[in-house]
Amino acid sequence: MKKSDHVIVFDTTLRDGEQCPGASMGLHEKLQVARQLEKLNVDIIEAGFPAASPGDFEAVRQVAATIKKCRIAGLARCVKSDIEKCAEALKPAGDRARIHVFLATSAIHREFKLKKAKDEIIRQAVEGVTYARQFCKDVQFSPEDASRTEPEFLAEVVRAVIAAGASTINIPDTVGFTVPNEFRKLLTYLNEHVPELQNVVVHVHCHNDLGLAVANSLAAIECGARGVECTINGIGERAGNCSLEELVMALKVRNDHYGIQTRVRTQEIFATSRLVSQLTGLMVQRNKAIVGGNAFAHESGIHQDGMLKHRETYEIMRPEDVGVVTGTDLVLGKHSGRAGFSAHLKRMGIQLKAEQLQGVYDAFIALADKKKVVYDDDIIELLREYVSEIPRVYAIKCLQVTTGNRALPTATVQIEKDGKIIEDSATGAGPVEAALKVIERVTGIKGELKSFAMQAVTHGEDALGEAAVQVKFGDDLVAAKGSDIDIIVASAKAYINAVNRHLFLTQTSAKL
Ligand code: KIV
Ligand code: ZN
Repeated sequence: MKKSDHVIVFDTTLRDGEQCPGASMGLHEKLQVARQLEKLNVDIIEAGFPAASPGDFEAVRQVAATIKKCRIAGLARCVKSDIEKCAEALKPAGDRARIHVFLATSAIHREFKLKKAKDEIIRQAVEGVTYARQFCKDVQFSPEDASRTEPEFLAEVVRAVIAAGASTINIPDTVGFTVPNEFRKLLTYLNEHVPELQNVVVHVHCHNDLGLAVANSLAAIECGARGVECTINGIGERAGNCSLEELVMALKVRNDHYGIQTRVRTQEIFATSRLVSQLTGLMVQRNKAIVGGNAFAHESGIHQDGMLKHRETYEIMRPEDVGVVTGTDLVLGKHSGRAGFSAHLKRMGIQLKAEQLQGVYDAFIALADKKKVVYDDDIIELLREYVSEIPRVYAIKCLQVTTGNRALPTATVQIEKDGKIIEDSATGAGPVEAALKVIERVTGIKGELKSFAMQAVTHGEDALGEAAVQVKFGDDLVAAKGSDIDIIVASAKAYINAVNRHLFLTQTSAKL
């Protein structure tokens, strides 16, 4: 396998990650994520599957036009029309474009999905790569379900597509079925039986159905793979993909073992994780490695004592290495002026436009009125709320709820739309239901709440609560979040954010 001095990070958050149920992002959101991935310094951004929909095509085209430092990949089946669309969408990336063609090779896919014999698979794969090479010199081939493909046949396919011009070979564990030792054996087999692999880069693409995506990817690196396909927060089809942050930090923290690292700017990891979580509405579980709320929290007395005596007794990496800023929370309160607030944001590395600053400052003062201390995490939550690129068609101005074990939960809301305030009330089985019902009545947009989760995102009893919802509007599943010191208000905000997001996604896709 072709060697390189670093492990190439191929981020597929915008393609495979976006295939996660409920995680779909609009064009603006994808561009926001792409810009952050560029800041994170990933090597390759897989921006989408241009033939899948006009929205995907446009997203790949605009990411290719916007991002200057990373290579941009687009996915295509081994089908001429897919490859043409992919090449067209990637044009703005010039010689940083990569066409990623794939075709399933395993017996189960050949027999039941493709209904094709082995020789037909090889012919179609070779045709796909050859055709893609007419548009682009950087062509990657993925034998889908490689880990369940007969090794001899897999070797045959790989040999044929390299001869046809593929410069990267990706070995996917499509259904997250393999285990580290077995994956090692497969890669070793390929190394031994396909000497042509010396001239190409080998990637791996592991899914997490058995929770082994990172372990399998690391095993592959030990066998010479030099590209890892991963997503932020490990989001993706079903149980997701190899998590970028875990893989990158495993290579960094255990450089003594692996002796090779990525070029990722690890201090950007936390910001990227939170951005993706916010834009997809998918919460990061508290105990998630690297980016979970508890990743650097030490609860037991013995651990705390050890930490105080010598940090490394219980900490294998520093929170600041992944961009988690601790111990620097400045106590801001309702007497903090706009200049002081703005200077504090700058220290946090946040720069806002003047019109954005005013909105965030007003929200900060409103929060400071209720909370004793405003922490950096509170400010980060406010920013998510007020600096979204999604137009706030509907905004909650006031929400009042009466509830209790002997009361009929009733919510009265004032919602602003186009500068006008609409007021209404509704009852429900509980306060959240009452609040969502009244929002539905005011907006006239019917949604079905599919999932609801709530967690405290900042410190203390007066912490901000963050609600994450998934709402079905017709056929579209939309995810959104909302935060507030009052958890019913946070739930209502999440719901209204979902409504705004739904309107935005419908409008942007209608324009394409
Ligand atoms: O999981 C998979 O096999 C894929 C391919 C398209 C690379 O996502
Ligand atoms: Zn995949």
